[in-house]
Amino acid sequence: MSENLLEKGSVNETLFIPLHVKAKETKDPKGVIRDPKAVEISEKVNVDISRFDGGNITHVGIIARTEVMDQGARKFLKENPKGTIINLGAGLDTRLTRVDNGSLKWFDLDMPEVIELRKKFFSESDSVKFIPKSVFDSSWVNDVDIDTTEPVLIIAEGILMYFKEEEVKKIFNVLYNAFPNAEMYFDVVHTYFIGKGVSANFNWGIDKGKDIENLHPGIRLVESWSTGDLHKKRQTLFFRVMNIFTSIRNRSQILHINFCKSK
Ligand SMILES: C[S@@+](CC[C@H](N)C(=O)[O-])C[C@H]1O[C@@H](n2cnc3c(N)ncnc32)[C@H](O)[C@@H]1O
Repeated sequence: MSENLLEKGSVNETLFIPLHVKAKETKDPKGVIRDPKAVEISEKVNVDISRFDGGNITHVGIIARTEVMDQGARKFLKENPKGTIINLGAGLDTRLTRVDNGSLKWFDLDMPEVIELRKKFFSESDSVKFIPKSVFDSSWVNDVDIDTTEPVLIIAEGILMYFKEEEVKKIFNVLYNAFPNAEMYFDVVHTYFIGKGVSANFNWGIDKGKDIENLHPGIRLVESWSTGDLHKKRQTLFFRVMNIFTSIRNRSQILHINFCKSK
């Protein structure tokens, strides 16, 4: 793969950050994530992914959200063994390899150039489909060829914070209308970090989990997790102290929501 495939500093290039974290964590004998596929890809991809090492706090945040979203996906599949999972901004995400139950349906959506890269490491099948479209091209929902009243879990990991609030609202509007019974997991940053030049620039955030319900009348918060509360022992002393501030404790939150038609 050529390093030029993804523009430097672009949102697309951010896909190497979670890949690097999962590969590094897997290689650590004390690591809490076992992800041989991430190690395999990181060794094959012709990019020095160590330059996407965001340091301790990014690392701990990504393993926390990986664990929470893996648990969420497993719970969904236990309740809905033939359920559909839609992975928005899939990048080189490896979750399917960790949670596949053999009877699910799975859709990976990302920009065409990223899906091309994904195809080098993952294959489509009867149950796994790629959607090479922007999430803003709402025609993508027609590519999810299921009865949309069936159980659907949408995952948007490490993507929404890069968009502006109006753009995030548009995404939720499309999801709400297309998948009325869906539940969804995604991560959000605290508003304090908007425009602070962390990673690729963050453009949207919320202060506390419940605020997500103000974004769209159909959203109901089911549960939220603050990164500051997760894997505390692995956080630096500085962050453990700074977690007394809500903006730092909620620097990244993982939200579980569903859609409600009756507000
Ligand atoms: C930080 S990466 C996260 C990748 C993956 N979810 C993971 O956790 O490993 C952000 C992803 O969002 C994708 N992305 C950015 N803008 C997008 C858009 N408009 N439509 C679809 N995907 C987009 C990028 O290409 C990239 O793969």
